[in-house]
Amino acid sequence: MFSVFAPGLFAGKLAVVAGASSGINLQIARRLGQAGAHVVIFSRSEDKIAAAVEDLRQDGCSAEGFAQDVRDYPGVATLFERIAVTRGEIDIVISGAAGNFVAPALGMSANGFKTVVDIDLLGTFHVFRASHAHLRKPGASLISISAPQGLLPFAYQCHVNAAKAGVNSLSQTLAVEWASDGIRVNVIVPGPIGDTEGMDRLSPDPEATDALLRRIPLGRYGGKDDIAALAVFLSSEAARNITGAIMVSDGGQTLIGAGGVAAALGARDPAA
Ligand code: HXC
Ligand code: NAP
Repeated sequence: MFSVFAPGLFAGKLAVVAGASSGINLQIARRLGQAGAHVVIFSRSEDKIAAAVEDLRQDGCSAEGFAQDVRDYPGVATLFERIAVTRGEIDIVISGAAGNFVAPALGMSANGFKTVVDIDLLGTFHVFRASHAHLRKPGASLISISAPQGLLPFAYQCHVNAAKAGVNSLSQTLAVEWASDGIRVNVIVPGPIGDTEGMDRLSPDPEATDALLRRIPLGRYGGKDDIAALAVFLSSEAARNITGAIMVSDGGQTLIGAGGVAAALGARDPAA
């Protein structure tokens, strides 16, 4: 089968992946590292990051990690400074840190809404803004990890819907502003991806999973490598003419409308 995971594709490159202590972002880091990039990962938990770095090294990657919350701009800026001083210009940045819980708008405090917007949207601004001074120009690739919620209004997800729509808009704006520096900025929209924290939260039992699967035309969850393959492609020379793109890998979920989370929870499905 054709594979984009070519050994040596990113030899000599430097990649930074935010929110990579687990799940989809860790798999992206693994594939970038296995293709030869030195990979720097960070997230809040020192223990989770240490375990993830060990995991990456076991899989043959050159990797290091740091505990850093994306909501803390001075901390993020200091980290990028440190990476650039020790490792040089940065070729690839992935902004994927995110938070989610299922709650109706009326069951969500102002701080609950703000917390998710701060992690997903403000965090992506922080990561991209702080990286800019240290990016390879021309040539760097930035990717934000968004969600179907950024394209469609899923019930019980108003915080994520707003945050991810903002991530899409922010990324496209930077694609325009930073094109003259030779920096590309793209967005990946994973649909439901199996064996992840995100889907454990949105689809907690077999009935919920069935209800969600009925709303995916291809009839299955994606895998983490489906998303890592897109990240590898978009970060490579093969995508040198692509910027500001919103690349959706969701089995067709967004083609038939939102409502999946409400249906999975057994509530009235506003899109049914
Ligand atoms: C209502 C809730 C809540 C819930 C938290 N809050 N959980 N409100 N229902 N289930 C409220 C709290 O009461 C508090 O408001 C505010 O949110 C902040 O909560 P904290 O626990 O203090 O926040 P923090 O420690 O910063 O943790 C952030 C978090 C947490 C988002 C709440 O769940 C987290 O750390 N998540 C990271 C992992 C994660 O979510 N992974 C999934 C990503 S998947 P008050 O008013 O009480 O102070 C994804 C999209 C998937 O993003 C899409 C799939 C298709
Ligand atoms: P995950 O494993 O929970 O990944 C989220 C990561 O973000 C974790 O590494 C977490 O690590 C980190 N993080 C959370 N808050 C942070 C903060 N304030 N600062 C720094 N790091 C923080 O979830 P996932 O399901 O793989 O999701 C990964 C990405 O894909 C997210 O952007 C999500 O929105 C997107 N997505 C997922 C799906 C899906 O089906 N799973 C679908 C669509 C989109 P710490 O706890 O160590 O901080």
